[in-house]
Order: sequence, then C-alpha cells, then structure tokens
Amino acid sequence: MGRPSLSRLRVIALLLLSFTGIFISSLWFGMNSQKDNVPSLLTQLIPAGHCTCSSWTNFNCTSSLADGTSFPASSVSRERAWSFQYPRDGSNIALNRSQCATAFPGLFEDVNRAAAFWESSGGITTEKLDNIPLKNGMAHAAIYNGELYILATKAAQHDHRRKIMAVLSAVYRALVAAPESVPEIEFVFSIEDKLEDVAGPGLPLWILGRKSSEESVWLFPDFGFWAWENPNVLVGTYSQMAQRIKESENKMVWSEKIPKLVWRGNLAFAPKLRRRLFEVARDQPWGDVKEVVWSRKDNFISMEDHCKYQFTAHLEGRSFSSSLKYRQACNSVVVSHKLQYIQHHHYLLRSSGDDQNFVQVERDFSDLPLKMEALLSNPERSQRIAENSFKTFHERYLTAAAEACYWRALWDGYAKVSHIMANKTAQHGLPYESFILQESSAIMNFEAVAVEA
Ligand SMILES: *[C@@H]1O[C@H](CO)[C@@H](O)[C@H](O)[C@H]1NC(C)=O
Ligand SMILES: *[C@@H]1O[C@H](CO)[C@@H](O)[C@H](O)[C@H]1NC(C)=O
Ligand SMILES: *[C@@H]1O[C@H](CO)[C@@H](O)[C@H](O)[C@H]1NC(C)=O
Repeated sequence: MGRPSLSRLRVIALLLLSFTGIFISSLWFGMNSQKDNVPSLLTQLIPAGHCTCSSWTNFNCTSSLADGTSFPASSVSRERAWSFQYPRDGSNIALNRSQCATAFPGLFEDVNRAAAFWESSGGITTEKLDNIPLKNGMAHAAIYNGELYILATKAAQHDHRRKIMAVLSAVYRALVAAPESVPEIEFVFSIEDKLEDVAGPGLPLWILGRKSSEESVWLFPDFGFWAWENPNVLVGTYSQMAQRIKESENKMVWSEKIPKLVWRGNLAFAPKLRRRLFEVARDQPWGDVKEVVWSRKDNFISMEDHCKYQFTAHLEGRSFSSSLKYRQACNSVVVSHKLQYIQHHHYLLRSSGDDQNFVQVERDFSDLPLKMEALLSNPERSQRIAENSFKTFHERYLTAAAEACYWRALWDGYAKVSHIMANKTAQHGLPYESFILQESSAIMNFEAVAVEA
C-alpha cells in the first residue's frame, strides 16, 4: 500500500470540511431558527449556552412570608397596630421604615444577605468601588443630603440610556418620598442582564439579577417597575399595567378562564430551555405555547390577555426574565421551571404548603405533564395558588409601596457596610434635576467634572 494520493487527501479534507460546515449550520439553525418545530435531535445537540441546565437556586428565606400577610384580629392590637392594607396603601411610596418592615416581611432578604457578605468581607471601600470598571449600561451616582447626584453614565445605545434613566428615576422617586432621613451613599449599577456582561466577581455592584454564587452584588428592582417603553414594546409603567390587569380580572371568574398553559416569547433566548417546553407541551390538550417573532407580531397576545388563561408558564431567557412581575400581576397560576437567577422579589416565591403561590417544575419540564394534569383535576387547588399569587405579588410585594420600601432598605443595608464618604464625591456630581435636562446624547456618555479642593 502506497501513501494515499494527494487527490484522495483532498477529498477527505473536503468531506470533513463540509461535514463540519453542515454540523455548525445545523446548530446555528437550531439555536436561531424562528420555527417552533426544529427536529428534537437538533435541540438535543444545541449547547446549553446561557443556561447551565443542571443547577438552580434554592431560596432560603429566614423571615416568614406568613408573618405579615394575615394580621391577627385580636381586639387588643387591632386599634393601635398599623398594618398594610391594599388598596389603601398599595401606591403609598412614603411608608416609614417600621411600616415597610411590617408590610413586607421577606422582601429585604437579599439586602440582608449582601450586607452580611460585606460585613464579613471588611466592608465596601472607595477602592473597591473604584475597582468596578464603568462599562456600557452602567452608571455611578451618589445620595448626599437627601439629593441624588449623577457622577457618570455610559450607554452604547438608546436602550441603555432609557434603562439607566428609568433606574435613576426610580431612585429619585423613592428618595423624594422618603419620610425619614436616608443615608449618604455612593454606588455603581448595571442594567445588563448578567454580572458577567460587565464585571467579574467580588465587586459591590448593584445589578438586576444574580446567580446564587454571585454573592458580592446588590439586587435592585428592574427598570420595568418605572416603565417599559421601547419602539417595539409599549407596556407603560408597572402600575398602569397592574391597573389594566386588575380591571380585566374584575370581569373574569376563574372557571371561565381558559384551562391551558400559555407562553409566548422568543425562542432565540435560551433556545435549549425554551424549545424543551415546546416539545413537552406540543399536542397536549393543555398546551398553548407559541413563539412570537417581534418583527411580525404573529401569535402576539397582550399581557392582559395572558391573564385570561388559568396557567402561565415562566421561563428564564439569557438570565432572569423580567416578565415574571407581569405574570404575577394576573390571578393565574405561574408555572416555572427551577430558576437559576434571583431577582429582588424571588424570595417570596413558594412552591408548596398553604402559601403556595406558583408551581415549580424541573428545568427539562419532565414533570410538567403530570403536574398540569394534577392542577387540572383539582380546580380548587389551582384557584387557591392563583389567588395566593395575586394577593402576595399584585396586592403586596409588587406594589409601588413595596418598590419604594425596597429601594430605601437597599440604601440602609448598603450604607451599613460602606466606608465611603459620599459627601466628598457627591459634591462634584450633577444633581438629578439638572441631569435629566441634558440632551440625550449627553446622557449617553456623561462624566461629572471633578472640582479642585
Ligand atoms: C440557600 O442555601 C444553600 C445552602 O446553604 C446555598 O447553597 C444557596 O446558595 C442558598 N440560596 C440563596 C438564594 O442564597
Ligand atoms: C411610622 O408610621 C406609623 C403610622 O403612621 C406611625 O405610627 C409611626 O410612629 C411612624 N414611625 C416613625 C418612626 O415615625
Ligand atoms: C463628610 O462626611 C464625614 C462623615 O461621614 C465628615 O467627617 C466629613 O467632614 C464630611 N466632609 C465634608 C466635606 O462635608
């Protein structure tokens, strides 16, 4: 046997090359296709990518959800003790610290966790704050003497700018409404989906969602609580949405809601996770899972219309999905896979017991059919879970009152472990009032000029 001829080698190389090409383009197709019926062989091959599918977060809430939700009707305490009442207090953004603690047990869990972390790590210093590189989608600000000062902002596009403005505005709103004095702090936040988009671990950064291993970060309520507006999606403020949902809920009774599991969304975010739901729900009498292609808007249904279903599925995307707060505004059962990303209000989720307020399934949805059948055959239980969710989230933990309380608890917790003299830096920042009057191009890339001492 002689050496293979050059032409044979060429043929082999060509075959290998085209095989690799086909393989890569199949994977690409599997991950980016807008079709909902990609062959399951392909979905098996898609790398998990953004979702490391084997792990999830356990929520360990030390304060009990039940503590504040039902107040004892004992005659002695009834007259004196203040308790949170919806709708009376739901939009009161000026509750004091003791009212906030009474009204929202368990809401400040992640603030307490982060404070404990920094307490045992020597606290937050100017040096540690300066170690945070200011990337696109981030802002640096300070609260001093009851005023909000902007030190720097960085935005790659208008989406960044809108989100940064929404967060600063939410801070400003909670600040001007504060009935008691607030601490002096200096902080940096990111509006990106993930910590790893902007920074490494170990920094005292404020972010929207964290994995349980990301212990140094502080969670804040997402920009959608202020408002969610971009050229494709006009949702409005969270309060407006909640109000619209409430009005449509008032016209519906549980038994008339569609007894199906609804999900609409984009398959290209977390394709493996999301396509798995399609596979499991396809051909099931209870399945109403469809893809939305934003450019075409087919299959689109409004958030209010999601509430017309008894069951709404919640799926993570690139990281957390901020749509959870809208699903929780409905009087419907939220069915979610085990979550990896934590948002500030996730500690209030309960997957079992009398307070159960959502249904949890495995990340591969293997137990979804069984759990759906159990829910459908026990409408009283399903209705109770939906009502628990509505009472817990819509009427308590996702109200404007709760959001403002959370912001101020965040500042308190952060200040407790922070050794930064916010007054020095704050004084060269631009007050929020002036900041928002600038042209949007100036807001995209802003840096306050330091004044010489
Ligand atoms: C809950 O506790 C477990 C075990 O101590 C820990 O691994 C996990 O990170 C905790 N979850 C959260 C959200 O802190
Ligand atoms: C907080 O508000 C409650 C109810 O109005 C009031 O009774 C209480 O004294 C206030 N607490 C403080 C510290 O001002
Ligand atoms: C800043 O605040 C600290 C206490 O937090 C105080 O000692 C210092 O004098 C203040 N500096 C200025 C310039 O106000």
